[in-house]
Amino acid sequence: MVYLDHGATTPVLPEVVSAVSEAMAAVGNTNGNPSSVHAAGRSARQQVEQARESIGADLRAHPSEIVFTSGGTESDNLAVTGLYRAAGAGRRTVLLSPAEHHAVLEPAERLPDAQLRWLPLDGAARVSVDGFRHTLADTGPAGPPALAAVMWANNETGAVTDLPAIAEAAAAAGVPLHCDAVQAVGSLPVAMDQLPGVTTLALTGHKIGGPPGAGALVVRRDAQLTPLLHGGGHERGLRSGTLNVPGIVGLAVAVRAAVVTRTERNRRLTELSERLIRGVLDRVPDAAPTVDGGARLPGTVHLTFPGCEAETLLMLLDSAGIQSSAGSACTAGVTRASHVLLAAGMDHQRASSGLRFSLGHTSTDDDVAALVAAIGPAVERAKSALQRRRSRALTPALVSEPAG
Ligand SMILES: Cc1ncc(COP(=O)(O)O)c(C=O)c1O
Repeated sequence: MVYLDHGATTPVLPEVVSAVSEAMAAVGNTNGNPSSVHAAGRSARQQVEQARESIGADLRAHPSEIVFTSGGTESDNLAVTGLYRAAGAGRRTVLLSPAEHHAVLEPAERLPDAQLRWLPLDGAARVSVDGFRHTLADTGPAGPPALAAVMWANNETGAVTDLPAIAEAAAAAGVPLHCDAVQAVGSLPVAMDQLPGVTTLALTGHKIGGPPGAGALVVRRDAQLTPLLHGGGHERGLRSGTLNVPGIVGLAVAVRAAVVTRTERNRRLTELSERLIRGVLDRVPDAAPTVDGGARLPGTVHLTFPGCEAETLLMLLDSAGIQSSAGSACTAGVTRASHVLLAAGMDHQRASSGLRFSLGHTSTDDDVAALVAAIGPAVERAKSALQRRRSRALTPALVSEPAG
């Protein structure tokens, strides 16, 4: 099996499996509920606090700023809804990129009385820094922004926005900024002490070799954030719920590994992904890389294949043992193009032909070679399938053409 879908989820690192299993086996033995005051509770609490300190050190944040959650979706929901609710009635504008993950877009669309203002993007789905500054300066009828949400690296195209410049502009304007760094952690230097303009930052374990269902929201100590989950007042009152100690322990191990091995992994992934692009373009000369210049995640390659439907190509590659991702949603047999690619200015047809190949810590030369060997025939078959489908769709229309 050739797994080229690390952007969706990554194989769990062996050291994470060991740490999680050990912590799991301790539950109910040496470890209790970390909120309990007895020895078993204190032992669990110690593990949580060690993990918090470790992640704080790796992201150069104060440990108290690490709020454990169930992953990226929850972190994004908490940030968007929590910052908005805390902003008060006079601030109803929300600035956001139309290429954000649905975990940011969907809660934003549900904010009561909010006026969403969309930030301009380039052709690879990066937020334009000038466009951001301009939008910040232009206060609309709904008052100054309650928040801005800008992802650091786009999960579909792999394009990297100049987040430090965005954060500087947000700080200068006094606008709280939420950054979805789910794809950035492990690939980019995420250092909260270098990003004073970032109010909240989301990360998740399963994109970096960590356990699924464990993530965090970094929340500045002076941030105004209303919680979503109410109950026992855990996590500075920002996220009630008994802590997932094994997941938290595994998350800390994964973040440490991601940070320590970043430089070497990035070098290797850059080499592999460049070879992948060259190899695919050699076999399919009309394919086009979506990120053509500018910063890109080292392991993420997005290409469009004219004359193909991404879903068909994905299935053909899957049957050849190669797993990738189409970034489009297929509902009741109708494929909708990815909102990211449409927001980046692609037409529907091109956007429906895009595939993402995402490499990660287990990727090898052989994986790239297998894709390069399989892509030509798969594209040919996908093109014929689309042509057949189009001619079948045309036939009834021709038959029903009015005479004359
Ligand atoms: C950019 C981005 N944000 C948020 C998420 C959601 O994270 P999780 O799967 O941990 O809920 C993902 C995962 O696909 C993502 O790529």
